[in-house]
Amino acid sequence: MHLARFHAAPEVFVAPGRVNLIGEHTDYAEGFVMPVAIDFATLAGISPRADGKVVLYSENYAEEKTFDAAALPAHAGKHWSDYPLGVVAILAGEGHQIPGFSLSLWGDVPLGSGLSSSAALEVATALAVASLVGVSYSGPVLARLCQRAENEFVGANCGIMDQFISANGKENHALLLDCRDLSFKLAPIPAHIALVIANTMVKHSVAGGDYTTRRAESETACAVINSHRGGVPFLRDATLEDLQKWGREMAPKSLLRARHVISENLRTVAAEKALEKGDLKELGRLMAEAHRSYSQDFEGSCVEADAMVELAQDLPGLIGARLTGGGFGGCTINLVEQSQAKAFAAELGRRYAARFGITPQIHICHASDGAHRIA
Ligand code: GLA
Repeated sequence: MHLARFHAAPEVFVAPGRVNLIGEHTDYAEGFVMPVAIDFATLAGISPRADGKVVLYSENYAEEKTFDAAALPAHAGKHWSDYPLGVVAILAGEGHQIPGFSLSLWGDVPLGSGLSSSAALEVATALAVASLVGVSYSGPVLARLCQRAENEFVGANCGIMDQFISANGKENHALLLDCRDLSFKLAPIPAHIALVIANTMVKHSVAGGDYTTRRAESETACAVINSHRGGVPFLRDATLEDLQKWGREMAPKSLLRARHVISENLRTVAAEKALEKGDLKELGRLMAEAHRSYSQDFEGSCVEADAMVELAQDLPGLIGARLTGGGFGGCTINLVEQSQAKAFAAELGRRYAARFGITPQIHICHASDGAHRIA
């Protein structure tokens, strides 16, 4: 498609979407997350141009946008092009001269489903443009640049998780990430476990107000703790005992949000240990507890996602189920015995459709490699 449109052979890069097994709303608290890169991805094809233009083409939106490389927009325009433009703006800010180029984008990460289509778009673009300007970044640095594009240009207040896993994922592995120093540990996903992703079909958006409100509420609780004992700049540094001591000084909602974040950090580290030991019963228990906490304390779920989790509980082969991603809709992640995965997906879809009159998309995914060049 790039060749036919731009009459130039592109270099092509791929960046995956992700599903998070556990560790929700902990990344911006400098805590732990355990995501997996999945086999839904964005492709970015890039070739240089001699006319000083930056031409962006989205196959998904069937739309082309043209800019002057020397006068790129400094602000977002609430358009799909904000993501690639944001990445280019951050790279320019790093001191790279941006030449003219054609960039074509295509992706199959379902949009607005909490599977990080935005991060995939950013990371694929970043690899493509970095290659064009002749610079190579390590995966963690690339992820930070893309997160900055989303925070500073697009205007979404996200943490580092999505860009990090898209840049650094590994086939057949989950990644336990310490969002404080970006050190990580790869945990193999046994071949007999399938990742079944069930889309509630309720749209999710990080740019939406709920994500930001929840984040602010949890951060207010952190400030109360920090005012008493110092050394607690982030909830990563707080304990459940802190909440017992000073919770009374917090707004009730803030206390609940903080209880989720603090307990979720403990669960995420424990979940990685359980996965490592092959203790699937414990892993499932932690996922169930994580969902309860996300839904009841963080109030980040919705009726449909709670039902999707509940409807899975007695299905043969289920190891654990919970809402994944930024919340307020999107997908649940179900860890399921591979041999039962197809039947599980079919029955869960039937049950959900019977309850809500909506046919959910249910995908059996495979843990994939992070972003790389493919042509
Ligand atoms: C979205 C954000 C991430 C993270 C999750 C919640 O996916 O982009 O940074 O905060 O929500 O865990």
